[in-house]
Amino acid sequence: MNILLLGSGGRESALAWKISQSTQCDHLYIAPGNGGTSAYGTNLDFNGSDFDAVLAAVRGYKIDMVVVGNEDPLVAGITDFLHREAPEVLVVGPSKEGARLEGSKEFAKEFMMAEGIPTARYRAFTAATIEEGKKFLETLKTPYVLKADGLAAGKGVLILSDLDEAKKSLEEMLGGMFGQSSATVVIEEFLSGIECSVFVLTDGNGGYRILPVAKDYKRIHEGDKGPNTGGMGAVSPVPFADTVFMEKVEQRIVKPTIEGLRRRGIEYRGFIFLGLINVEGEPMVIEYNVRMGDPETEVVMLRIASDLVPLMAAAAKGALADLPCKEDPRAAATVMLVSGGYPGSYKKGYPISGADAAKGSKDTVIFHAGTKPSPESTFKGLDAVVDAPERIVNDIEYEQQETFEEGSLQDMADTDRGPVGDVVTSGGRVMAVSSYGKTLKDALDRSYDMIQNIHFTDMNYRRDIGNEFI
Ligand code: AMP
Ligand code: GLY
Repeated sequence: MNILLLGSGGRESALAWKISQSTQCDHLYIAPGNGGTSAYGTNLDFNGSDFDAVLAAVRGYKIDMVVVGNEDPLVAGITDFLHREAPEVLVVGPSKEGARLEGSKEFAKEFMMAEGIPTARYRAFTAATIEEGKKFLETLKTPYVLKADGLAAGKGVLILSDLDEAKKSLEEMLGGMFGQSSATVVIEEFLSGIECSVFVLTDGNGGYRILPVAKDYKRIHEGDKGPNTGGMGAVSPVPFADTVFMEKVEQRIVKPTIEGLRRRGIEYRGFIFLGLINVEGEPMVIEYNVRMGDPETEVVMLRIASDLVPLMAAAAKGALADLPCKEDPRAAATVMLVSGGYPGSYKKGYPISGADAAKGSKDTVIFHAGTKPSPESTFKGLDAVVDAPERIVNDIEYEQQETFEEGSLQDMADTDRGPVGDVVTSGGRVMAVSSYGKTLKDALDRSYDMIQNIHFTDMNYRRDIGNEFI
């Protein structure tokens, strides 16, 4: 089948890497992709939030399945749009109503309360109820957790230790600190514990598969200090997420979530991301996301041994049936290389050397995130979506359809279908250096060794990813 993947981060590189190994994938297109995704398919120059461009690509390139990588198009209703305009196309991603689990924290909290899903005590406030909000803060213990209701690019959560500061932040948030996203603010009880990310692929009809569990590292500095980022690294498996813990997750969280969606008639065929916290052995939900995590995907894809394409297609059709989703027994780790200054302001456009240092490696793969082809490089992706499929650049060789051994990196050189030439930095998170290992330590050692080959001006990364487990 022809597959269109929407998004441009490390997550989409990892999904593209996995999808391109499938015997069921004829052509993979990535929109807009990044400087590395052209190794796995054809980059198309538009954004998933441009629904008309998505539809033109679906028609022009005879797409059979659309995989939505990032949340914005989902929250804006891409799935409903495609079901209406191109009903024969499979879509991996929830309806607009289902995407509210991520698009509105208040909706997510109400849902969890109604379903009896363990989560922090909370209340939601608007400008009209600001004084009640301040009183509610007084009933809580420090630290105080304030969350913008809507999408805020991962920046909408403030954790404050001082009550007056919390009240002031509430005023600022309701006053437009995150624009319309913080017109409603959720205030909740602080939970103390270690976090992990659980991913579920569901078919909306009660069928689901729990994918390998991961843990990401959100803070910019070592020792989990400094501001939050999109994520500085990740590991899988997560030692504390053992069978006892995961049984609780499945019974108390996964099943009621899927059942609650179904009972409300909310169409949800795609990935559910459960941001969990382990409070003395008891899993509680910090947040839902309606897509895979980044950088968690950069380890989860390594650890899925089964072909992901038939699984996603079956989920999108509403019938996962008994398709297996096998785990690779090896551990995986990823370390994110970021631009100096990130998550604050940083410069872009620095040349990257060693971006192909993992070529041919069976243990390490470098997933590009904020990269783009260097201005001097010949390949710039396709200019625009065009109706005529003939305009697909001919120098990309699709003939090389190889069958890859499941779960193994094989020879990455064989999967290099597109010309990935010189690349430059184009974002805060630049590349995710991801490795297999017999143990987490092996996997981490391999990624850190590989990083020694990669350079760009002001490159930064954390040297303590996964340390707590080794
Ligand atoms: P979110 O954007 O919802 O993922 O929140 C960002 C981060 O804030 C989470 O990964 C947690 O580390 C932290 N956080 C959010 N809610 C809570 C809470 N109720 N208790 C403790 N930490 C929280
Ligand atoms: N790594 C957290 C996220 O993708 O939201």
